[in-house]
Amino acid sequence: MKKALLMMAIAGTMVFAQEVRNLDKMKNMQEMEQAMATIQKGFLFNNLSVVKNGVKALKRTAGFTESFIKKGATTKSGVNTLLYAKNQTDSIKMMADEIESAFEKGDKYAAANGYLLVLSKCLSCHQTVRSW
Ligand code: HEC
Repeated sequence: MKKALLMMAIAGTMVFAQEVRNLDKMKNMQEMEQAMATIQKGFLFNNLSVVKNGVKALKRTAGFTESFIKKGATTKSGVNTLLYAKNQTDSIKMMADEIESAFEKGDKYAAANGYLLVLSKCLSCHQTVRSW
């Protein structure tokens, strides 16, 4: 009886942990979307500190790679999801820095190109993770 209760408690915690993680992932994604919107706003209002805020938020939120992982470490096709997520976020962070320095130098087109590159990273990951 005691054992059964314990098992139930453990199972309950596991379900709960799973939900929390998914919620965190969605929240993190929404924060990244916000960060991208902030960067764009900075471009349009020609405001360096807004761009900087967006870049900072993007780098912070992109850092939570593990929250991107849907399940397991490897997909059926052999993709290491954690490694994949890490590579994606590393390049997002690098590009975020480039956006900031290009904008700071007044090269708006280079900054906009960096933004586009980040966006395509977001999209390519989404494209990939849907089949995970
Ligand atoms: C390493 C993979 C990965 C990268 C990189 C990534 N995402 Fe996501 N994103 C996900 C996953 C997983 C989901 C869940 C959607 C799904 O399962 O189809 C998601 C969902 C989202 C959602 C929907 C959230 C919701 O509440 O429905 C938004 C918005 C989003 N991502 C924004 C971004 C932005 C902006 C970037 C780039 C700055 C980005 N993502 C980069 C993996 C990634």
